[in-house]
Amino acid sequence: MAKTKTAFFCQNCGTQYAKWVGQCSACKEWNTVVEEVVQKEEKQSWKTPSSTKRKISKPLRVNEIPIDKEIRLNTIDLEFNRVLGGGLVPGALVLLGGEPGVGKSTLLLQIALKLPYKTLYVSGEESQKQIKMRADRIHPHSENCLILTETKTQNIFQQIESTEPDIVVIDSIQTLHSDYIESAAGSISQIRECTAELIKFAKETNTPVILIGHITKDGSIAGPKILEHMVDTVLQFEGDRNYVYRILRALKNRFGSTAELGIYEMQGGGLRQVNNPSEILISKNDEGLSGTAIASTVEGMRPLMIEIQALVSTAVYGTPQRSTTGYNAKRLNMLLAVLEKRAGFKLGAKDVFLNITGGISVDDPAIDLAVIAAILSSNEDIPIEKGVCFAAEVGLAGEIRPVQRVEQRILEAEKLGFNTIYVSKNNKLSLKNSKIRIELASKIEDVVQALFG
Ligand code: TYD
Ligand code: MG
Repeated sequence: MAKTKTAFFCQNCGTQYAKWVGQCSACKEWNTVVEEVVQKEEKQSWKTPSSTKRKISKPLRVNEIPIDKEIRLNTIDLEFNRVLGGGLVPGALVLLGGEPGVGKSTLLLQIALKLPYKTLYVSGEESQKQIKMRADRIHPHSENCLILTETKTQNIFQQIESTEPDIVVIDSIQTLHSDYIESAAGSISQIRECTAELIKFAKETNTPVILIGHITKDGSIAGPKILEHMVDTVLQFEGDRNYVYRILRALKNRFGSTAELGIYEMQGGGLRQVNNPSEILISKNDEGLSGTAIASTVEGMRPLMIEIQALVSTAVYGTPQRSTTGYNAKRLNMLLAVLEKRAGFKLGAKDVFLNITGGISVDDPAIDLAVIAAILSSNEDIPIEKGVCFAAEVGLAGEIRPVQRVEQRILEAEKLGFNTIYVSKNNKLSLKNSKIRIELASKIEDVVQALFG
């Protein structure tokens, strides 16, 4: 058997080496040299069936290209469909990334169990029995889902050939290994090779393949950046493990917008789709509590009402503490400085704690005004009136700045029964006969005056 030829390449500059070296002599980077296949054995990992001869494509004028009706496989899960841009595209490679324990395996197993298509769920992480136990909890009666525990790509392709599934799920790409590479599973060269083999299979048979990918500490998908370039769609599943809400978003999508997002709730029996997220993120509190304010934010394309809680108290130690959950701490410090300088509130000697409820994290600047309102409400110990919400950014000069999609935010607030919304004076509004009172503000002082007198 002819041995596969491999060589070592620097991932930074591309220099080739015959042996592994710690430092690339060309670009002087450390630990960038990895093994890669140069020439494969004759036996291919995924053999093109002789019936499907490859067509050689010819250049065509744009208006000559025939448009077939777009086919998408409906995944039954509405949130998943939405994030994909309307369903799975045949032959697409989808990569789902997320932190350990966030629910990646649960989400894909749940989708696989409910699909009306024949699905092969390949797991390299859990045994068939473990998966069966999980499946029984989520969706006990499933006819179309086949479970395989295997990590070698060549064996997976053998099973695919004999079972001919319509959709393949791989949990996870980091556990796969190919015979053609010597390095350990999860190494850069293994991930590249296994993904390349799967892409070849997906494109030649028009079968969609969904891969699960682990992410590293800093939040990027483990393995080479090239993995994200190779696949058609990159999805991210995020959320705090200690909270029940999970957000699915597209970071890259060749077949749809990346602005969509899906929201799930983790329950005992799997993940539940959340169709009206605003209602659950706001606590239904009848007594007015000081220190909470509601912001109308937009996540992707979806408007979302969120609750912000602040606690301001006299600092016990010399250095006051500032701590945030779900909000950028630097931005909080900036807003506190603006409050001190422009509105005359002395918060320099106070501890400030800020929390966005529901365990979600928001980086939309349009929640600035609600953050300020929550802080002042806690500082003054005066609750903000029921039915009031905010959608505006605050600038360094204490000015209230306009935000994008303000009308969508106003309509969402109105839909949920709010009666007043504070927005910037500089937003161009063309809303007619809305029932909600729209307060236009230009400076923080205006809002403070209106809220706390
Ligand atoms: P899992 O899908 O294994 O996470 P990942 O594959 O991203 O590492 O899900 C892990 C968590 O989900 C686990 O801690 C328990 C929880 N869970 C539920 O709360 N309910 C359920 O029905 C299932 C299957 C899991
Ligand atoms: Mg898992």
